[in-house]
Amino acid sequence: MTDKKTAKVAVITGVSSGLGKAAAVKFMRHGVKVVGISRSKPDFEPDLWIEADITKPEDREKALKQTMKKFGRTDVLINNAGKGSYSTWEELSEQDLRDIFELNFFALSAMTKIFLPLLKESKGTVMNVSSIAGDLYVPCMGAYCATKSAVTTFSNTIRPEVKRYGIKVIDVAPGRINTGFSSRSLGNRQPPHTPGGGSPDAFAAALFQAWRKSCRSLIYPGWNRIAVPMLKFFPGFYDRLSIRIWKLDK
Ligand SMILES: NC(=O)c1ccc[n+]([C@@H]2O[C@H](COP(=O)([O-])OP(=O)(O)OC[C@H]3O[C@@H](n4cnc5c(N)ncnc54)[C@H](OP(=O)(O)O)[C@@H]3O)[C@@H](O)[C@H]2O)c1
Repeated sequence: MTDKKTAKVAVITGVSSGLGKAAAVKFMRHGVKVVGISRSKPDFEPDLWIEADITKPEDREKALKQTMKKFGRTDVLINNAGKGSYSTWEELSEQDLRDIFELNFFALSAMTKIFLPLLKESKGTVMNVSSIAGDLYVPCMGAYCATKSAVTTFSNTIRPEVKRYGIKVIDVAPGRINTGFSSRSLGNRQPPHTPGGGSPDAFAAALFQAWRKSCRSLIYPGWNRIAVPMLKFFPGFYDRLSIRIWKLDK
């Protein structure tokens, strides 16, 4: 069934859990039609759910086709699906390194490219979920940090390229948010326990506002805007702290 006379349409990757799910629920609550993409079925009902592994070109094509068929438009593409990796570079396998880049970076850039024609039509927005970790180098998360730095570079370089089409690009850099993300990560290490961590719903509210205001970037929570440059200002201290936290002195 087609449903083309709709309000705005958001295509969100990684809706079966965590930040993607919270974002989908938030956007739907505000009357935005949500196309949710993931490999496993979410426990809520997006307006359209597409079972897809976004690392596969044929699944990305399917996602585009089904979105076109049902809604005929896309106003915002939220490239959220991603995974972590916890191991030193020495321990990291070649396969894990390739897998994490495949999902966190190559699939994200391919999704953007394939949805560009629809985004041109709507003068829409691309929101790329990177991470604070992409800016703040974290030992034992090197591969993950590298993918997220690549995402931010992608956002910052494609933004001026697509401005002529009226497309906005927002780089979204969350800090730690309680989603169970680390339990689904690659690698042989456990991240150290750190107290705190934001709520997915509060993040989703900030994400929605960033879209409404067409921000250039979103750093969430906001205090990371100060904390990250502060830590980088004292590189020796930050290295020593990291060695202690990750028990790299043993
Ligand atoms: N949570 C944090 O503290 C944090 C901090 C900074 C940045 N981030 C970033 O935020 C994003 C979401 O993280 P999260 O915490 O919400 O993680 P999460 O709860 O593990 O969710 C990841 C989502 O990605 C989907 N996904 C994984 N592989 C996929 C594939 N090949 N094709 C399609 N979908 C796939 C998963 O669904 P299926 O398994 O069902 O496919 C799931 O819905 C990630 O990019 C992450 O790097 C998270």
